[in-house]
Amino acid sequence: MAKVPILEALLNYINQNNAPFSMPGHKGGRGFLTTEEGRAFYNNIISGDITEVEGLDNLHKPEGIIKEAEELLSSFYGSKKSYFLVNGSTSGNLSMIFSAFNEGDKIIVERNCHRSIFNAIIMRKLRPIYIKNIVSKKYNAPFSLNMEHFIGTINENCDAKGIVITYPNYYGICCDLGAVVKEAKARNMTILVDSAHGAHFGISDMLPQNAVQLGADMVVMSAHKTLPSLTQTAYFHVNNDKNLKNINFYISAFMSTSPSYIFLAALDYARYFLEAHGKNEFEKVIVLADKYRELINGLENFHVICKQDLIEEFGEYNIDIDRSRFVINICENYNANEVLIYLKDKGVQAEMSDQHNIVFILSPFNTEEDLNKLYEALKECPLKSFSKEYSEVDINHIPEDSLIPCEVFDREREYVTIDSAVGKISAVSVVPYPPGVPIIMPGEKVDNEVLNVIQYCMANRISIMGIEDGMLQIVK
Ligand SMILES: Cc1ncc(COP(=O)(O)O)c(C=O)c1O
Repeated sequence: MAKVPILEALLNYINQNNAPFSMPGHKGGRGFLTTEEGRAFYNNIISGDITEVEGLDNLHKPEGIIKEAEELLSSFYGSKKSYFLVNGSTSGNLSMIFSAFNEGDKIIVERNCHRSIFNAIIMRKLRPIYIKNIVSKKYNAPFSLNMEHFIGTINENCDAKGIVITYPNYYGICCDLGAVVKEAKARNMTILVDSAHGAHFGISDMLPQNAVQLGADMVVMSAHKTLPSLTQTAYFHVNNDKNLKNINFYISAFMSTSPSYIFLAALDYARYFLEAHGKNEFEKVIVLADKYRELINGLENFHVICKQDLIEEFGEYNIDIDRSRFVINICENYNANEVLIYLKDKGVQAEMSDQHNIVFILSPFNTEEDLNKLYEALKECPLKSFSKEYSEVDINHIPEDSLIPCEVFDREREYVTIDSAVGKISAVSVVPYPPGVPIIMPGEKVDNEVLNVIQYCMANRISIMGIEDGMLQIVK
């Protein structure tokens, strides 16, 4: 038995020295070593782990340096007001939903949202109406909002108070947010955007537009996913005065009262880096990514998805893609989850995989050496020895609802084996992680499609929350 299990495993992981294509954006500290300010931070990181002391400021009532830094953040992104978050985009999603909506409100939500949005829906006792995604038949992934379904849904639900959208999704794919905002505003609905993966957007024309500039009422961004900031750090932007009333209360309620100055300094630094160096540095990594995209596309069996692919399949949709991210599709149905494990053995750390695709998050701190390691590992990949994946699981399926999510909490529940759960009402959300999108929500009925996805995840060692030892909690 290990003496200090977590520390020992962490040190072991660090020593593997993997090529970093997962979060956080600083890529093992490299992101702090390219500037004088970043080096000063890096060299003092442990001594910087203090919370409010004399001479510093209070995150819950900023009047000095935190206020100044949040004003710099707001003016950089062009918001009415911006906040630092130390409890991740998760706390931002909870705060925006609590401040924008009241108990019992109907809201329209993209089904392909992160579970923090669904948790907020349960806790705020909202009535969600879901919008489907378009699914790529060629690459077998949820690619963007289904605009016809979206327009139909908002027309049928004019009494909805607002709309919650993810921009971009985990694959770096962006719906036509400008059009969504226009439709929302025309119906006087509040539009909230989870832009956890889009903090770097808008810094260059080579990247999609930023959600704040596209006019969303509130936007949450993880600083740690794509910028040189620490894990757990995020930004919260408000664009609309009507949402300012209760926002201070909710942000404060969902955050620690002892925020570490390491997090605050990292948030401040990431904004500075993006402002001073972001355009140049992101353009450099995109040029490098483009070069390796061509090389990888020259290999048999691997294909990095690009904008042209989206245009060919969904020409009528105005969708965009983050060129600083790789989504590698594994051709001929070979199992992408097995390729991800193979790459890890070769010292390449990807972000996540589904059955057919692997996602890699690049940032300005990825080097040519990292990309070359990925390319060489793919070149040598004994793909033909891996299993093929023919499962036709429906990733865009929305089961029928019987109760609204929060109603389930007052009901009696019991555990049943998953195969005997068909026809019963789920008492929990079942969420494969990543990407953290629920296949069933509390209050929805388990059907054969849901069963298929759960069985698929279990068979493929995909971590799945809500299933305990093959059992699901249902409403009695
Ligand atoms: C789309 C999306 N939103 C929100 C979150 C939560 O972000 P955080 O981990 O910063 O709390 C994630 C995490 O992966 C995410 O992918």
